[in-house]
Amino acid sequence: MRLSVITSNPGKVREYERYFEGLGVEMVHAKIPYDEVQSSELEEVVRKGMDELKKKGISDFIIDDSGLFIDQLGGFPGVWSAYVQKTIGNDGILKLMDGVSDRSAVFKCCIGCNLRGKDTVVIGTCCGVILKEGRGTEGFGYDPIFSHDRIRSFAEIPLDEKNMVSHRGNAIGLLREEMIHQISKDKP
Ligand code: IMP
Repeated sequence: MRLSVITSNPGKVREYERYFEGLGVEMVHAKIPYDEVQSSELEEVVRKGMDELKKKGISDFIIDDSGLFIDQLGGFPGVWSAYVQKTIGNDGILKLMDGVSDRSAVFKCCIGCNLRGKDTVVIGTCCGVILKEGRGTEGFGYDPIFSHDRIRSFAEIPLDEKNMVSHRGNAIGLLREEMIHQISKDKP
């Protein structure tokens, strides 16, 4: 069985491969552009992306979308996380959070998988807080300012540990379970 991981980031393909080892699913990197619709919901962005790809005749694929949702900023940067990271960055977020005492935030990852004509959409989350300053050198994006345990930032923990608790790790785990179920149902 083959699944195209449609992304501009080859690192994601390796991550999917690692989780799907032993399931007999081959992950292939594909760069196919599709519109990311304007919506405040990751799930809507993913479902519309899947519909567009299917209209182009593409099947058996995975797409995903993630973001950081900060409670006291009304869910900002949310679906705009990539753009906000490139523009105001972590320093900008820390400025917006200056003096804010409730620092709760949640990372979310939505994955859409089309396999043998069936769509599966899963959402993984990771709750935590926005730290008062950026810390650590691992990871990417908002990792230095986000802490799941209120002690260390995501940029201060090893990648394997991050994957065990992260929104993406949780979402891939949910998808893996769903696929094991689907594959076993399809067996004669
Ligand atoms: P993507 O949809 O997975 O590409 O994520 C969109 C944006 O959310 C990224 O460009 C990052 O800025 C941010 N983001 C997503 N996941 C993470 C993470 O695990 N750590 C830090 N930032 C993340």
